[in-house]
Amino acid sequence: MKPSRWYRRGPGSPYRKLQSLRFLVTRDRQAVRGFVSRRDLLDSALDRWRLVRRFIHVTNHVRGYHTLGEMLRVTAAILERRRRGCLTVVEAGAGFGGSTAKLSLAVAAAGGRLVVFDSFRGIPPNDEVHESLDGRRVVFRAGAFAGRLAVVRRAVERFGAPEVCEFHKGWFEDTVSGFCDPVDVALVDVDLLSSTRTCVAALYPRLRPDGVLFSQDGHLKAVVELFADAGYWASLGVEPPVIEGLGRDKFLRLEPPQKRDLT
Ligand SMILES: C[S@@+](CC[C@H](N)C(=O)[O-])C[C@H]1O[C@@H](n2cnc3c(N)ncnc32)[C@H](O)[C@@H]1O
Repeated sequence: MKPSRWYRRGPGSPYRKLQSLRFLVTRDRQAVRGFVSRRDLLDSALDRWRLVRRFIHVTNHVRGYHTLGEMLRVTAAILERRRRGCLTVVEAGAGFGGSTAKLSLAVAAAGGRLVVFDSFRGIPPNDEVHESLDGRRVVFRAGAFAGRLAVVRRAVERFGAPEVCEFHKGWFEDTVSGFCDPVDVALVDVDLLSSTRTCVAALYPRLRPDGVLFSQDGHLKAVVELFADAGYWASLGVEPPVIEGLGRDKFLRLEPPQKRDLT
């Protein structure tokens, strides 16, 4: 017998909507308040609040692996750069399309394009065994988060802005690595150290001088070690970035060091 809709917990369920409401008044409250009060982003507080509501609508209907606060931080970075000719936002790691739909709404509001990379068949086979910052063992099973391209497209068509999206299907080594355009904002949520290494190596050196890259994998000790390793950045031919949250947070913000004014 199929469980009644009141007992279901997945996308579209009443449980899910209640959870969103609960997070809105607890975990994400500060982030939402901060975002809605940012007068420099969009024309009015009502427009900013509408965007937040659309994000919550996506959360209620599409499985996602991020918090509203995290997506609002990326969105703020995108909107700060709006109306810039050829604004390019990159997402590496789309999952089932929840983050993609939200990013597409932000990019549509800013005027630009969203370039999305994923295998669309989940995590690749790997033998990585991780330890998280709180000492837990973490493994990523091959095939986990396998949101097919058709599923992600459908999520974006129903809840996001498909007209700004460009999808690149395949292993990062064969796709992101060949990406040559200047990048304004990048979001890398790829779980594996090898995938982080590949995406950051391809995208970070392509950031515009005021660009920013976010990583959702700062809870893994191996990722912290990679980002703290000056040799890694030297091998990419760049200076080590300024990293907010390293060794403390799951969600990291990486920016090129500002050139010091020597005059
Ligand atoms: C945690 S999920 C992304 C979740 C999504 N950002 C969200 O918040 O809903 C990680 C994604 O990275 C992708 N991925 C990881 N390593 C990859 C690789 N080497 N090549 C292509 N895709 C990869 C997986 O297919 C998966 O969709």
